[in-house]
Amino acid sequence: MLTTALAAIAAFEVVFFSKHDKTLFGFVKILWVQFLFKHRIYNIWLCSKLHHCTFTTMKSDQFPFNLPSPLEKLHLPGRDLWIKRDDLIHPIVSGNKWRKLKGFFQILVPGEPITTFGGAYSNHLPAAAFAAKHFGHPIIGVVRGEELNARSNGLLAYCQSQGMALEFISRSAFKFLREQGWTGYRGRILPEGGAGPHALEGCGEIWRELADEPDHLVLASGTCATVSGILAAMPPHCKTQVHAVSAVKGALKEHTAVQQQASAKHITLHWEDEIHFGGFGKWSPSLLEEDKKFEKSTGIPLDPNYNGKVWAYLQRTSLEGKVVWIHTGGVRF
Ligand SMILES: Cc1ncc(COP(=O)(O)O)c(C=O)c1O
Repeated sequence: MLTTALAAIAAFEVVFFSKHDKTLFGFVKILWVQFLFKHRIYNIWLCSKLHHCTFTTMKSDQFPFNLPSPLEKLHLPGRDLWIKRDDLIHPIVSGNKWRKLKGFFQILVPGEPITTFGGAYSNHLPAAAFAAKHFGHPIIGVVRGEELNARSNGLLAYCQSQGMALEFISRSAFKFLREQGWTGYRGRILPEGGAGPHALEGCGEIWRELADEPDHLVLASGTCATVSGILAAMPPHCKTQVHAVSAVKGALKEHTAVQQQASAKHITLHWEDEIHFGGFGKWSPSLLEEDKKFEKSTGIPLDPNYNGKVWAYLQRTSLEGKVVWIHTGGVRF
């Protein structure tokens, strides 16, 4: 259906007028954009445009990144909220992805192969695929779910289009690998979600980009690499209270580690694990509805896995003083 519609618009363009007819050409371009937005493939479209505009003017070892990410003030009914738009860093290496990957790519030797891991809807896999291609590293993506293939969703198709070799394994094998620390694969291992000691420095930059110390810093958490990097960059006894909204059910090990890290620096960490809506990849129709309303009133998209849950947390929690929400991105394919 999608392919037919795309082909029909393209044929219309070619058959009915030439690009010299500016009015008609403009009209069809508007149709194209409406179509792409309707079918939510604008990330891929935007990405290709962005590459086109920026790669030509950048040095080959740089990404076209929007850094430092902007800090915007939202005037919402009954409250002011600041939002750090890490989602605008890059269309694919979005949110905390480059923050986590930067240190990893710095330690690689040229052409070193990489193996990484993720779920079929992981934001990490496309980001790693894009970065590996850009820096010239072959990459294997080990995906949770032996029943899947590269055509199972747009995200996996994108990974393959970037040259990532996909390998599909059972959920139990994936769980075993996670418990064993991702051993047994060739090349440099990039753990699930891009987590690892290499991520600390890059995630710490989120904190260092803030001009002052807010009263509250709120962000989504999965592996806790981002929270941990931020805590590592904060000074001891910092007045800023950190709120980590876990998108994952029962992340006990991760919670314990960051709670100890915060306590050692006398920083208050609030751990929220009641708003995961049943676990990773789960949400409710009302959550989607609220996210849509938020997007409509602010123009800022939220993914239901992570930032949608942060918004649900903020709606239920009253916080005094300056509140900064770190928008950790999330790509829709
Ligand atoms: C959009 C988004 N937000 C938040 C997170 C959680 O980050 P972390 O795993 O560093 O806790 C992820 C996972 O990497 C993510 O994709």
